[in-house]
Amino acid sequence: MNEDQLREHIALLGKSLYDRGLAHGSAGNISVKLSDGWLMTPTNSCMGRLDPARISKLDLDGKLVAGDKPSKETFLHIAMYQERASCGAVVHLHSIHSVAVSCMEGLDAQNVFPPITAYAIMQVGRLALVPYYPPGDEALADAVRRVACAHHAVLLANHGPVVAGSSLDAAVNAIEELEQTAKLVLLLKDHPTQLLSPEQVAELNRRFVH
Ligand code: 13P
Repeated sequence: MNEDQLREHIALLGKSLYDRGLAHGSAGNISVKLSDGWLMTPTNSCMGRLDPARISKLDLDGKLVAGDKPSKETFLHIAMYQERASCGAVVHLHSIHSVAVSCMEGLDAQNVFPPITAYAIMQVGRLALVPYYPPGDEALADAVRRVACAHHAVLLANHGPVVAGSSLDAAVNAIEELEQTAKLVLLLKDHPTQLLSPEQVAELNRRFVH
């Protein structure tokens, strides 16, 4: 896709997330890699009403070259791109079940979710948890940078999920799977649960995770 098509695609998927209640108000942000920088959703914009022409364009130094003022989480997105060579897009949401899990005590910071479904293993993998910092704080971006090399999916404590993907579609699919998995974890909280075995998880990683 060329830059204009990517602008349209960000607006299309932003609206899709908003229409299905996965984004609300001005929460969440989306970025996509270009050959000469990144497209980034503007700060305080509503995912459901993005104007493709006003989406921010940053150069490879992160400097704004076109469009509105970019998301306050720009540093966090750039940290993902810098640590993950294969990263083509980053999506951050405040989707409700993921946020609920991000507020829970006693999570495993290296692997937040128990192995409950195949698709969670295949698309989310080992979800990392980073400590709470205020939105847009550079310390939050630094915390994500420290785990990004080993994890494409990160949960920000008391805040929400961030996912990197090879393309925008891949990142959106993975963050939707993360949200569904968080919902399942909450639904199953008081029910004895059959988890996937370490062998079943290893087999999924062999077959589907590269
Ligand atoms: P922006 O409106 O600056 O993108 O911030 C929204 C958000 O989700 C903060 O975490």
